[in-house]
Order: sequence, then structure tokens, then C-alpha cells
Amino acid sequence: MDGNRRWAEKNGLSPRQGHDKGADVFINACEWCADDKIKYLTAYAFSTENWKRSQIELTHIFGLLEKFFTEKISRCLEKGIRIRVIGERTRFDKKTLSVIEDAEARTARCGNLRVQIALGYGGRDEITRAAKKLAGDVVQNKISVDDITEDVFSDYLDTVGIPDVDFVIRTGGFDNRRLSNFLPWQTVYSELYFSDLLWPEFSRAEFKKALDYYVSVPRKHGK
Ligand code: FPP
Repeated sequence: MDGNRRWAEKNGLSPRQGHDKGADVFINACEWCADDKIKYLTAYAFSTENWKRSQIELTHIFGLLEKFFTEKISRCLEKGIRIRVIGERTRFDKKTLSVIEDAEARTARCGNLRVQIALGYGGRDEITRAAKKLAGDVVQNKISVDDITEDVFSDYLDTVGIPDVDFVIRTGGFDNRRLSNFLPWQTVYSELYFSDLLWPEFSRAEFKKALDYYVSVPRKHGK
């Protein structure tokens, strides 16, 4: 969801207003996916690298996330959207953790669309945490080294139970044609779409254009 601050600057607004607009577009995008019968959506909302941003910006983004997890949950319940957060939670403060856990619990029975929000997430960090957990289980004789397969390793990742990613959309223009630590294990065979639009400009029409591209691509998974 790149381009929030650039959109704000382009429109003479503050970075905060860019993130506010980005959050509105995000809930709309969840609803477009639910309406189109898409089963899984993972959004990169805050990376491990984003911790380096200014305290003012961090406070605003986390305030916005808390607002989302409290005020938008009724819209998620109406549409049958289940919310889950992936990433390293140990740096979140108590209030953030509590609203996240509450949103996860309240939407746990929703079955139309599963939304993963990547927060404090970095793909290398996820793989490192998974490797540590797995090594711990080997040391405790819960699993033997010979039994470790790709499927077993996947079960140690934050995305356990979520299939590999079919399609990645990144907004923010031509300068951003990379995945920036987003789900590196899960995207090895993903199709990629880079949109020229800044995230707050992302629309239903652009979403349709991206999906049209996706269905036009032959997917062979190396076969
Ligand atoms: C990248 O744009 C986006 C972020 C660091 C945060 C994204 C957060 C939101 C869109 C709002 C909250 C999300 C939810 C799930 C409610 P940027 O800030 O790096 O902007 P730039 O690419 O123009 O620098």
C-alpha cells in the first residue's frame, strides 16, 4: 500500500492525511475482495523497517490501526471478513495488542474472506522466527530432522493455514518494482502487478484492471 505520503504531498495535505486516506481505501479494498469472492487477502501495513520512522508518524499509524480494529470491525462482520495480524508482536504496546486480539476474536467465525494484516512484519524475520521455533521442537524431540519438509516448515510461519500467494499488487509507481521483504517464502510463484497509482488513489477500476491482468497470465508453476 505504497504512496500515502506522496499522495498527501501531491495534494497539499499532511502525511497523516495520506495515511488516513490509505486506511479508508484499505477497508474498501477488503470489501471489493469479499464481493469478488476472493478468499484470502494479505496487506502489508507496517514493516520491520517502518519502525525506523519518526515517533510522530509511528504514533499516528498505530492510532489509525487501533481505530481500524475498533471502528471497522462491524463492516468486517457484515461482510464475513475474518481479521488476523501477522508479524512480530512483541514490540506492540499493551493497548495495540489488546485491540488486535479483540478484533481477531470477534471475527474468528467469519468465513467469506480471510484478511491478514502484516504488522511489524518482515519476511526474513518471519523465516528466522520459524527456524528458531522448529529448532526448539527438534531439541525437545517433538520432531526429527528427517521429518522436516517444505510443508512442515510452512506450518511454523505466521501464515500457517493460508495458501501460497497467487497475486501481489504493489502501488506507488515505477520506482517500486520489488517485494521489499513481503512474504518471500509464500510468493515464489506469485504473479506480480505494479500499479502507477499511489495507494490512496487505488480504485475499484484499477483493482479490476489488475485482476484482468492476473486472469490473462498462464500459470504453470515451472511445469
Ligand atoms: C507506505 O506508504 C505505507 C505505510 C508505511 C503504512 C500503511 C498504512 C496505511 C495505509 C494505513 C493503515 C492501514 C490499515 C490496515 C488500517 P508510505 O507512508 O511509505 O508513503 P510513501 O510511499 O509515499 O512514502
